[in-house]
Amino acid sequence: MQYSQKVLDHFMKPHNVGKLENPDVEATEGSPACGDQVTIYMNVNEKTHKIEEITFQSYGCASNIATGSIITDLAKGKTLEEAKKISWKEAAEALDGLPPVKMHCSVLAVDTLQKAIKNYEISHGLAEKESFSKQTIINELKKILYPKVGESIVTLKMVKYVGFEDGVAIIDVDIPKFDEHRDNVADEIKEHLEKYPEIKDVKVTM
Ligand code: FES
Repeated sequence: MQYSQKVLDHFMKPHNVGKLENPDVEATEGSPACGDQVTIYMNVNEKTHKIEEITFQSYGCASNIATGSIITDLAKGKTLEEAKKISWKEAAEALDGLPPVKMHCSVLAVDTLQKAIKNYEISHGLAEKESFSKQTIINELKKILYPKVGESIVTLKMVKYVGFEDGVAIIDVDIPKFDEHRDNVADEIKEHLEKYPEIKDVKVTM
């Protein structure tokens, strides 16, 4: 697999690695597909909402570690609102590209940052904890990127139907039979939704 020099640099000497002592907030996300896991720790200025310190720990692959390194660099010194805009695309660009097959590894790191921000907002009364609904499923689908172009499957209007009944989530995706990323997209959908205790089963039709 071809990695850019920047990915290799961040993988070999990652920035902001480790655990913060008494962080204001932390968040962990895991990938059931590969079994890897990322944790992000943050200290946030209560008045300015600026991220003053941010570190990460990863049990992931090179793409995952390099993304953890770059997104913590990008987030440091930003306000929570600014850091919310850090996307997989921005991280991939800052790393001079990431192999599409390794997309889920870097998305995992970005999702963890977004979860840490959400956790901080909820614990500091800046946001309400969302109760589970069909919108939760749609929001989760928005995080899934179509590897060929690096855009969300929702933005690309590939999701044709979302249903949720008796604990079963039904997702219909418009993706050609011969598309090389078909299985990958189906796995990502299952992976993202199966972590919700409200969802007992995920059915993906294509
Ligand atoms: Fe698991 Fe990359 S293979 S994070």
